[in-house]
Amino acid sequence: SRSLLSVTSLRVADVAEIMQLATELEDEDPAARAQRLYKRRVALLFYESSTRTRTSFELAAKGLGADTTLVSALSSSIEKGESLKDTGITLRALGAECIILRHPQSGAPYLLERETKLPILNAGDGMHEHPSQALLDLRTMLAHLHKPKHAVTETSLSGYTVTICGDIFHSRVARSNMLLLPKLGAQVILSGPTALLPEVAATVGPGITIERDFDKALAQSQVVMMLRIQAERLAGRHIDLEEYKVRYQLNGGRLAPHKELLVMHPGPIIRGLELTSEVADGPQSAIAEQVRNGVAVRMALVARALGAEKAKKTGAVKATK
Ligand code: CP
Repeated sequence: SRSLLSVTSLRVADVAEIMQLATELEDEDPAARAQRLYKRRVALLFYESSTRTRTSFELAAKGLGADTTLVSALSSSIEKGESLKDTGITLRALGAECIILRHPQSGAPYLLERETKLPILNAGDGMHEHPSQALLDLRTMLAHLHKPKHAVTETSLSGYTVTICGDIFHSRVARSNMLLLPKLGAQVILSGPTALLPEVAATVGPGITIERDFDKALAQSQVVMMLRIQAERLAGRHIDLEEYKVRYQLNGGRLAPHKELLVMHPGPIIRGLELTSEVADGPQSAIAEQVRNGVAVRMALVARALGAEKAKKTGAVKATK
């Protein structure tokens, strides 16, 4: 299948190919790149709000020359009760060859693939997965941890430890990273209070441990990935935010002993809660880089979904750097 519904379908060789293709597309002359999917139709179907994922998938598809169309739940016939299946069939009838789907229900991309037979790219489904985010996170880590920069054909994270901190339970970003990073040899430490990180999370897979003491987790890590508390999914449960900040906020004082630690966050960030502005805007933060890597990685995923991994012979001259 040319879909990407979960990182579990990716072999290590697939991950390496995606990383390599992302770099090739990023470096390619824009005119040549735009020939790859010239005038092909890609639909973005978003049932939940998004800034980064929606924009970067759209820029990625456009960068490959595709025509894109955005359907948002609030401004479409979804509001009138049209089902996901019928919305997908309608987009296919309009010529969409690939659908990028964000949906609040876990598993929705599987249904859309089954009903439309189109390649589907999962842009986040409920509390399940956000595979393109895990891949852009990986690209960001590799660029920092491996030398030379962007030596991304070597995807091993053996010997590295990544702490993921915060609202693990509700996070599809955490889940995709927990499934992807150990496959590449990384150790993953989960840190957070029991309300946001139940013990059962430790059973997700090998290479994953829980450390409730965030400072101890940081001391063992090369990368820390901070997560937002997903208030919209708490369903009335109360979190004492002042206590949370004392134990889990990444602030200047907490980061100070860890000068080499790479700070990541998938966004959106809530400044002053899970991390402070000093950290978010500081020299160890890779947050903006993650966003930029989203375009390159998503170009690779869209190209792969539509069989455009190979450059077209157009005679265009490769850009010199
Ligand atoms: N990281 C992420 O998925 O951000 P958006 O919700 O803005 O797309």
